[in-house]
Amino acid sequence: MMNTTLYSSDLFLIEGGVKLRGKVRVSGAKNASLPIMFATLLTKEGSVIENVPHLLDVDSASELLKKLGARVERLEDRLLIDPEGVNSWETPDEIVKRMRASVLSMGPLLGRFGRARVALPGGCSIGARPIDQHLKFFVSAGADVQVKEGYVNVEIGKKRGVEFRFDLITVTGTENALLYLSTVEEKSVLENIAVEPEVMDLVEVLRKMGARIEVEGRRAVIWGSSELRGFVHRVIPDRIEAGTLMVAAVLTDGDVTLEGVELGHMEEVVEKLMEAGAKIEPIGREKVRVRRGGRPNPIEIVTREYPGFPTDMQAQMMALLSVTEGKSMIYESIFENRFQHAYELMKMGANIDVRGRSAFVYGVEKLRGAEVNSTDLRASASLVLAGLVAEGKTVIRDIYHLDRGYERLEEKLNSLGASIERLPQILS
Ligand code: EPU
Repeated sequence: MMNTTLYSSDLFLIEGGVKLRGKVRVSGAKNASLPIMFATLLTKEGSVIENVPHLLDVDSASELLKKLGARVERLEDRLLIDPEGVNSWETPDEIVKRMRASVLSMGPLLGRFGRARVALPGGCSIGARPIDQHLKFFVSAGADVQVKEGYVNVEIGKKRGVEFRFDLITVTGTENALLYLSTVEEKSVLENIAVEPEVMDLVEVLRKMGARIEVEGRRAVIWGSSELRGFVHRVIPDRIEAGTLMVAAVLTDGDVTLEGVELGHMEEVVEKLMEAGAKIEPIGREKVRVRRGGRPNPIEIVTREYPGFPTDMQAQMMALLSVTEGKSMIYESIFENRFQHAYELMKMGANIDVRGRSAFVYGVEKLRGAEVNSTDLRASASLVLAGLVAEGKTVIRDIYHLDRGYERLEEKLNSLGASIERLPQILS
């Protein structure tokens, strides 16, 4: 989403053509770590979060928690968060600009202080991404919501239970509502909620903190508590990182074993990869071996809310489909502008026809190395994947997008035999 002045960035230099082989461990999920980090604000007691990936977005969330007055310490993959000293309810623009998930501070701050002031996130490179559903929820919960000078000011007098139905399914909207309602002692009901595994991981944490939450289909019933406790929790594996590594294995005609995966969260991705010609064999509970037989087949993908095919895997699949034998179709139903990577892939020789929310991908024999730009997190991942099979050298600029959400991706791929060099980018 963001502009290049916010981070200094690196570039990747990739030499394509290696078949990936070996074992690699999947990290904890970014999109579960972030809401769980914000859940620590709901209590004065300390919490421990395990399996937290080293990412720019996690650093941004830590910085925000510290700004609000919390103590945050990292011990390898663990975050120790002591929120006792939190004495501010303002989330400044500079952090929201860097990471729009900072909007997840709104529910906890309103729950803890009865007020929150959070900078309004703008649109980003994948879509307009309004937060009207978050605000509509807070209004229906009885809060006074004012948007002024780029900030949302939310204030509540007496907290009460609420029955609220989301007009559309929103991941962080659902999380914000759950975070807030966990502090409300009366019964609340949320309808049409997101049920992504990351949302369910947050629910698990809120239960550990003392909230009672029942989820049935897209309906949640919540009985909150004014005395939530600290927690110890291990974050679920990152299903998008796992999916990205699976595509890397298939695309390069490799043989890769992923460790620390939760295949139960990846059914649709596994199904589509198998339809495209992947061999995916679970080994025990947390391991999976991924290979392919021959050139991948063309397929059709429609992105949907969980349990549908995740929009966060769409760009990576496009890289794979670029070299299948035949015509594939991708329909992006979640975000209105999430095909930026198609234009970069075309610079590498892909043949893609983007028509609104549909992309028709005509498989080519080979991609060729080129100089391309990262436009967002998952787009960058798709370019890395394409670079792995392209003939010659690929340069990917603005890798900070990738660093927001993938932990040491190049080191992991290099450990499987890839040749990816990280170099400082001279900004022009
Ligand atoms: N939407 C609205 N109004 C709202 C909220 C959402 O119109 O109030 C629309 C959005 O514009 C979008 C759709 O609803 O078209 C779904 O958006 P959602 O709110 O579910 O997205 P999000 O919560 O902002 C999270 C992930 C994204 C992921 C989406 C969809 C986090 C921190 N982010 O975003 O992850 O793509 O859900 O699954 O959980 C990523 O990791 O690369 C990433 C972008």
